[in-house]
Amino acid sequence: MSLHGVKIVGVGHYAPARVVTNHDLETWLDTSDEWITTRTGMKPRHWASEEEATSDLATDAASAALVHAGLSAQEVDCVIVATVTPDYDFPATACQVASKLGALDKPAFDIAIACSGFIYGLTVASGLIRSGVYRRVMLIGAESLSKILDKDDRSTAILFGDGAGAVILERSEEDSFLAADLGADGSRPELLYAQGSGARKPLDHAALDAKVHLIHMQGPETFKLAVTKMVESTDAVLGKAKLVKADVTFLIPHQANKRIIDAMARYLDVPADKVVVNIAEYGNTSAASIPMALSETVRAGIVKPGDIIIFVAFGGGLSWGAVAWRWAA
Ligand code: ACO
Repeated sequence: MSLHGVKIVGVGHYAPARVVTNHDLETWLDTSDEWITTRTGMKPRHWASEEEATSDLATDAASAALVHAGLSAQEVDCVIVATVTPDYDFPATACQVASKLGALDKPAFDIAIACSGFIYGLTVASGLIRSGVYRRVMLIGAESLSKILDKDDRSTAILFGDGAGAVILERSEEDSFLAADLGADGSRPELLYAQGSGARKPLDHAALDAKVHLIHMQGPETFKLAVTKMVESTDAVLGKAKLVKADVTFLIPHQANKRIIDAMARYLDVPADKVVVNIAEYGNTSAASIPMALSETVRAGIVKPGDIIIFVAFGGGLSWGAVAWRWAA
């Protein structure tokens, strides 16, 4: 039993101004708009400028969420940023964001679990509120994946975009958090990783020349696992929440690839009009994709109190998870 309930009282999202189209990619990669569209469903994506880093994107999304909630930054008790593209190895990007927002002296920390970051973050943030530790938590998924992309590798350069999505969670009498299902398997990191300047292989000139600091992915294998794990996790979270598929109003999946989302929805037998897809506008923005899609859906005015939302993701780790959420007024 939890002490308190939790609900979302504000949402916001932000994408950098620079738009990179499939035709732009054609100018330096051996690829085509037709290949990218049919294999991924992606059209434009946004890439941050040289001056912009993840904390800037996160701060813009968080500011929009504060305005949406009618709150000031000082009224937030804790700031969490889910990201695998932090401004620095340390300190945490959340510390930068809290300062920029004016959430002074508030606790702030990052969650680094790739595309599953928002799902893990939503579970942690809800736990902090439901257990009575904090009254209000700002959770932001934010990525500048363009900064760790090998722009000459057509198998990854076309997939990823930059952006941020934020939610403000608040203590409530009603409880929106119905259940979570989280999982991870670290036995095969090489399926999807960026070695970066990690302690396993500290960055040196040879590593830089070999581009180990950039994203490497074994696409087809990752594709199959993404479908399997997101289907399993959705089924598991529905079971834990004692829901059936017909109860679901919106399925908001990580925007990895339109074909992954379509396959998952087909296996789950969830009709297309319940599945939120905005991949054609942003590409794969990792931890940012679900809160960006949620923010767009809420701001479109189509989410009503009582609606059941399933959030589900799969990504680097390998990691996966789903949260069942009942939208509250
Ligand atoms: N343009 C043209 N051709 C290409 C491109 C491109 N951009 N990229 C690859 N190809 C070629 C390949 O070289 C290959 O050619 P070949 O048959 O001559 O060898 C052919 O297209 C097929 O390549 P596949 O990799 O088998 O293509 P696939 O249909 O699997 O699509 C993709 C590749 C889009 C990467 C897909 O595998 C995918 O989406 N994977 C999962 C991504 C994902 O879910 N990641 C997890 C979340 S992200 C995170 O956690 C950070």
